Amino acid sequence: MRRFSWTALAAASFLAAGAAPLPAQERAGAQPLPTVAIIGTGTVGSALGPQLAKLGHPVIYGSREPGREAVRTLVARTGPRGSAATQQDAAARADVIVLAVPAAALEELVTKGLGRTDGKVLVDVSTGAMRKAADGYMELVPGPSNSERVQAWAPRARVVKVAIPGAYVIPQPMVHGVAPTVPIAANDRAAKETVARMIAGIGLDPFDAGPLRFSRSIDEFALLFFVPLQQGRAEGIEMKFLRSSYFPCFWPVRKQFGAPSDSADHATFPATGTTPRPCAAWGGR
Ligand SMILES: NC(=O)c1ccc[n+]([C@@H]2O[C@H](COP(=O)([O-])OP(=O)(O)OC[C@H]3O[C@@H](n4cnc5c(N)ncnc54)[C@H](OP(=O)(O)O)[C@@H]3O)[C@@H](O)[C@H]2O)c1
Repeated sequence: MRRFSWTALAAASFLAAGAAPLPAQERAGAQPLPTVAIIGTGTVGSALGPQLAKLGHPVIYGSREPGREAVRTLVARTGPRGSAATQQDAAARADVIVLAVPAAALEELVTKGLGRTDGKVLVDVSTGAMRKAADGYMELVPGPSNSERVQAWAPRARVVKVAIPGAYVIPQPMVHGVAPTVPIAANDRAAKETVARMIAGIGLDPFDAGPLRFSRSIDEFALLFFVPLQQGRAEGIEMKFLRSSYFPCFWPVRKQFGAPSDSADHATFPATGTTPRPCAAWGGR
């Protein structure tokens, strides 16, 4: 797998603020950014692709019908870094593969449709498998998450679970006044960092959600999105985590529960931009 320099993404905060940074590959000394295959040209794929291309990523849409008029239009909208191919060709030429297909299509796609994905970053954006519970609200189907299943189907791929917001947010990350938080779970540090930088680059707020098994927690949390909608309220939700420097001051969780096994190797995420308040300023517990 190629190695990349991420200096080109230092301009991410400009994007979030609405200013236009220089196209990444036109900046002096910038290395090419990873090529991204976006498998599926539906709501998520067509929102994500143009934003990643704007950052400087070559974007290859992997479609069942790459010659279709709608796909050609999407490629044109993506600009000179955009192209389309079959799902397998797109995956073969990419470093990062985003699985922007219905969850029901994941198994066939990952086991047969993509070819070898060894060493590649495989991004799962699906919501968990749900069903209606006895009370009429949704519940998760028990068992492994989709991300864990993807990892089992492609054991040598570097699977990353990304809890993306509604696709309508992706081209306008500040539409609600703040950048929605995007929890990211993965076992592979470098893969997690790669995806975190892409998410920050498009102006969203990446959050390190721990190892891949936390994809289950993300899926449980995602059930909350359905509650107001099922209740018939005139509102849905997007997710924003407020970072608080209070807890590290007064809640010695590491002393209580110990440090996790990957402590020496936590991912480095782009800065959140918030300044921690000194412990003394909280005035005690
Ligand atoms: N929509 C959102 O706002 C949103 C938000 C968070 C998460 N998600 C998740 O993101 C994933 C994609 O959602 P979406 O809304 O983009 O879906 P979508 O609009 O239905 O698009 C999915 C695309 O996948 C391809 N596809 C469809 N059936 C396939 C199959 N059987 N095998 C292979 N490829 C197939 C199609 O592209 P081609 O015709 O070009 O092959 C299709 O346009 C889902 O897991 C969804 O839960 C969506």
